[in-house]
Amino acid sequence: MGVKGSKAVLAELLLPVAPEMERMRAILSAQILESSPAVSDMTDHVARFQGKQLRGALVLLSGEATGNTTDEHAAVAAIVELIHLATLVHDDILDGAEVRRRVACVNQRWDNQIAVLLGDFLYARAFALSTQLSSRLCSRLLADTTRTLCVGEIEQSTRRFDFEMSQADYEKIASQKTASLYAAACELGARYPGGNQELGARMAEAGRCLGLAFQIVDDCLDLTAREEELGKTVGTDVEDGKVTLPVLHAYRASGETARAAIRDAYTQPDVSDRRAALFAVCDVSAGVAEAEARARALVDAALEILATLPPSDASRSMEGLFQFVLSRNQ
Ligand code: IPE
Ligand code: IPE
Ligand code: MG
Ligand code: MG
Repeated sequence: MGVKGSKAVLAELLLPVAPEMERMRAILSAQILESSPAVSDMTDHVARFQGKQLRGALVLLSGEATGNTTDEHAAVAAIVELIHLATLVHDDILDGAEVRRRVACVNQRWDNQIAVLLGDFLYARAFALSTQLSSRLCSRLLADTTRTLCVGEIEQSTRRFDFEMSQADYEKIASQKTASLYAAACELGARYPGGNQELGARMAEAGRCLGLAFQIVDDCLDLTAREEELGKTVGTDVEDGKVTLPVLHAYRASGETARAAIRDAYTQPDVSDRRAALFAVCDVSAGVAEAEARARALVDAALEILATLPPSDASRSMEGLFQFVLSRNQ
């Protein structure tokens, strides 16, 4: 799938919620606006370069697919996207990333201090907007999700260079830092402003499976993709000591000598391209294939839950979005 191909595929998938996506984008732009000239320079930057908006789309699609749409769903979707954006701005500081959404990261265009503050600004905007909604469900669920997400990022940073990490521990961290927001998006769509808790829990589980698959695919892309295609810095996981699922698989399949060489690729000083060094000493592709198979199984589990909903344009769209997570190259 080429760069244009991917965008076009997504736009077509999201047709059943296209007007609501437009409302979401309008709310998002209005929320990001800030009159201070210094801040507006930065907010312009993050507002101009939009991502795929998968999480916002999931709020809207999950609402439509479960027959639970309200006037406030577009605002809920915008809040979810604002929180996602805040996590990216902070994550790029943690990862020392340079490029995001095809342009310089905030920490590069300005500096780390600015990026900390801009991330905080975006969180504050998100939660301020959530307090204006008629139900507290959105604030409550997203406050809890944000806490979980931070716990995941912290846990991850304490497990750097841990080549003995179990798959279960890897998945727990990925679930916390990434799948939690996918779960919240699907749950809010299905039951905001209160609604059917059982249905909400079912859709949250679909979102959790999808989000975990999304992170596994992301970790594969960090190893295999080119920056020009992916639109963000690649190889940062190896540079930062993150032992992701594909690497865990490759490490486990290696003999003692190769394992030592893998550790060296991560840790020896003055290695100019750690990702290339890793490819030189083990079968990364086999690890990637194994991780991709896990992502596929998780998407299948999410699809099974989706199949319990009555068929509709929205549920078919959601199905397409679930598949997109596996085939995406950006
Ligand atoms: C990137 O998410 C962050 C991860 C959880 C890996 P996306 O790839 O959805 O980011 P945008 O919003 O489309 O840029
Ligand atoms: C970060 O995971 C997930 C977040 C919660 C932001 P990554 O570090 O893999 O995300 P990218 O690759 O920078 O987008
Ligand atoms: Mg990152
Ligand atoms: Mg990544």
